[in-house]
Amino acid sequence: MSSAVPKFEVRHHDAEGMYAQKAELLAVYEQVYADMLTDPFFTPERFWERLELYARWPGFSLVTGWLNGTLIGYSLGYTLPDGSKWWQGYKGDASPEQLTEDGKRSFAVTQLMVLPQWQRRGYAHQLHDALLDGRTEERATLLVKPDNIPAKSAYLSWGWQRFGQLQPFADAPVYESLMYEVK
Ligand SMILES: CC(C)(COP(=O)(O)OP(=O)(O)OC[C@H]1O[C@@H](n2cnc3c(N)ncnc32)[C@H](O)[C@@H]1OP(=O)(O)O)[C@@H](O)C(=O)NCCC(=O)NCCS
Repeated sequence: MSSAVPKFEVRHHDAEGMYAQKAELLAVYEQVYADMLTDPFFTPERFWERLELYARWPGFSLVTGWLNGTLIGYSLGYTLPDGSKWWQGYKGDASPEQLTEDGKRSFAVTQLMVLPQWQRRGYAHQLHDALLDGRTEERATLLVKPDNIPAKSAYLSWGWQRFGQLQPFADAPVYESLMYEVK
């Protein structure tokens, strides 16, 4: 008898691959963020607009995770461009030098999600590692809501460090900023 545990498959994509999978990516988003979809910042339309912006930047990368041919989670990010406004709205102790981007220094992880029924099995960790594996930037950064205990616990246990707070847009939440040494 063969094992009933399906093999987890990770695939890598560029921006074109993201557009080709719009329906699948949005379907996962809508399940993972089901409780927040009425918040104007978290509607699927606003979410997709943000993905389209990320996909325009150099270094954009998407990794998807599949079980038996079904998308169950993904992670994506891009290289912060020279003079990036990423750090606009930053509150913390970092020096101006630490907040300077040259187009090669930092990889921003802008999404990581796994369907609720498949969480807590190490799949997000695998997606995270696949996204960052082989990156040429010296560091990665991301934003997480301070009350998002599952994500914060995961990132801190995977080697991320606290790096102040950041509110990227006027109607966005105030996020906690985290930093990760890639190499
Ligand atoms: C954050 C998220 C991607 C983690 O996915 P996952 O597949 O469960 O993560 P993994 O199984 O790889 O890692 C699990 C680790 O996450 C942390 N974690 C996950 N759920 C947790 C919970 N309910 N409470 C505390 N820690 C939790 C723990 O560190 C856990 O490690 P452990 O199982 O050894 O204790 C998932 O909870 C998710 O999709 N959340 C909604 C989207 C989101 O908030 N994304 C992050 C945006 S910054």
